[in-house]
Amino acid sequence: GTTLGASAAEKGRYFGTAVAASKLNDSAYTTILNREFNMVTPENEMKIDATEPQQGRFSYGSADQIVNHARSRGMSVRGHTLAWHSQQPGWMQNMSGSALRQAMLNHVTQVATHFRGQVVAWDVVNEAFADGSSGARRDSNLQRTGNDWIEAAFRAADAADPTAKLCYNDYNTDNWTHAKTQGVYNMVRDFKARGVPIDCVGFQSHFNNDSPYVSNYRTTLSSFAALGVDVQITELDIQGASAATYRSVVEDCLAVARCNGITVWGIRDSDSWRASQTPLLFNSNGSKKPAYDAVLAAL
Ligand code: XIL
Repeated sequence: GTTLGASAAEKGRYFGTAVAASKLNDSAYTTILNREFNMVTPENEMKIDATEPQQGRFSYGSADQIVNHARSRGMSVRGHTLAWHSQQPGWMQNMSGSALRQAMLNHVTQVATHFRGQVVAWDVVNEAFADGSSGARRDSNLQRTGNDWIEAAFRAADAADPTAKLCYNDYNTDNWTHAKTQGVYNMVRDFKARGVPIDCVGFQSHFNNDSPYVSNYRTTLSSFAALGVDVQITELDIQGASAATYRSVVEDCLAVARCNGITVWGIRDSDSWRASQTPLLFNSNGSKKPAYDAVLAAL
């Protein structure tokens, strides 16, 4: 293939990008988006603060804009994200206990129902594990509602949209030897053993000098896949955008049958949440970087 999406499709995978609704009127941006990608993740527009800014008042305008842009051009959509400790609206930040649990489950139900049939996969729960050596859950208002909040969110999402693939998504879970990776692995193994409806695990894969790509990444992907879930690389960016590292990431995904897609977290370096790291595949002027050529060649 001559584009990322077409080449990935030849391998039975997708190649996606995060998209910001505010950039859909930038023709340099949409030219690359429409040419190269066949999967889209709204960068912020489906988060809790965007979709339920006031309790019980749902707002889908900018998320719908992205979904319509993508689907009308034959691209698929990953939903991101239904339950998360971060980017909560103020009303939710101030809640706790059973009221918060109920509000979280209602949010999952309402948003998954709105987008039913339009998203192929949901990041149902994002970033629920702690960094460091504990391997434990992250403390948060959601975690304090009870350790079963994650499976409750997955069951609610499954009831609202039975056909979407339901994923757990996190960062710093790339290195197989890290306690956080093992903590997530043990949760997924437990969910599969008990029939909790989980279909996939997303690896954000924000690689930088503090959390670099390591060669056991392929072991991580294949170990999770062996639990009976798909694995997806959901928010890839690499500080400095080493062509060799991008190539390794693509090769690792292609080596794992159940690694069914890669999403980069933005199009041009200027679109990145970490723009100063120049971590993406396109220069700010829209030209292809060496990392782009390496990815296309590896696909
Ligand atoms: C980031 C967005 O890129 C920024 O625009 C926003 O200000 C903060 O969130 N993990 C995730 C993503 O799951 O939602 C985050 O996206 C990056 C880290």
